[in-house]
Amino acid sequence: MNKKLRVLSGIQPSGILHIGNYFGAMKQFVELQEENESFIFIADFHALTSVRDPNELRKNTLEVAINYLAVGLDPKKVFLFKQSDVPEVCELSWYLSTITPMGLLERCHSYKDKIAKGIAADHGLFAYPVLMAADILIYKSDIVPVGKDQKQHVEVARDIAIKFNNIYNKEVLKVPDIRIKDETSVVPGIDGQKMSKSYNNYISPFWDEKEIKKTIMRVVTDSTPVESPKDPDKCNVFALYKLMASKEDIEIMRNKYLNGGYGYGDAKKELLAKTLDYFAPIRKRYVELKNDISFVEKILKEGAEKARSEAINTIEEVRKTVGIK
Ligand code: TYM
Repeated sequence: MNKKLRVLSGIQPSGILHIGNYFGAMKQFVELQEENESFIFIADFHALTSVRDPNELRKNTLEVAINYLAVGLDPKKVFLFKQSDVPEVCELSWYLSTITPMGLLERCHSYKDKIAKGIAADHGLFAYPVLMAADILIYKSDIVPVGKDQKQHVEVARDIAIKFNNIYNKEVLKVPDIRIKDETSVVPGIDGQKMSKSYNNYISPFWDEKEIKKTIMRVVTDSTPVESPKDPDKCNVFALYKLMASKEDIEIMRNKYLNGGYGYGDAKKELLAKTLDYFAPIRKRYVELKNDISFVEKILKEGAEKARSEAINTIEEVRKTVGIK
């Protein structure tokens, strides 16, 4: 029998999750849980680089746990845990820091972009990819499913693992593979840019219906009149609809665009109906889980025990390798 591959990924509890997180990352986690051994966590240490209100961080952390379970992660197949329940990642992060070239981190897009937007650069933000490398490497992960914006960070983790093994002349750290789904690698927001919490252009499946409707009605379109034919491939409404609709429904909407006599308002109504329909089971589970927080906490505790025992094995090996033990 083939050994199961180990899947690892995480999401920051830095605000409400959106359909970009769902299609870019969470949906992959759900698909991958069937054949593999999955470690999926809530990156609360990472979120400290942007969330500075302790109550908000606690609330968001629990919320992401609920979201994971609501989208269909099965605690019988996946170890779900909080990053901070495995403090050994911070220790590994330090060992990795000592061999990480400054230039590697200076080139990271997320750091460069934040600086370009005038967000003050603290050391946490700069060192963020090293902690992410520690997350990945401490569990000896084989596959890291992410959206395209995290590709470079996983490549950094690979580079760091290779460098560490070279320096200590021993295959201690496993070099992981990246998994990105082409069709949903960058989910667009309501303005056509990448959907992101920080661009305020997102739609959350966990909002109430009114909020989802209000936001879908705000999706940016051009001013082609109702009667005229329209190009579906240049339309944000169509791009979002494609994520959730069947092949047949996509073709039907495409033809309506091309034929004319179909307004963006009509397309938005169809997008709203599709969104509510697609996420209905997830939204139902979300409400049930919200009423059963002790169950969610129990899952996180059990997940953390398993994750920590794995992490301790790696950290002991690394300590010996570097000469700390
Ligand atoms: P985060 O919290 O920003 O995003 C979580 C996941 O959602 C994906 N994503 C998207 N995918 C497609 N289209 C979008 N518009 C979109 N927006 C977000 C992200 O690519 C990501 O997969 N640093 C990570 C968290 C992290 C991590 C890790 C991930 C910490 N340690 C170890 C993997 C392995 C982050 O900030 O993701």
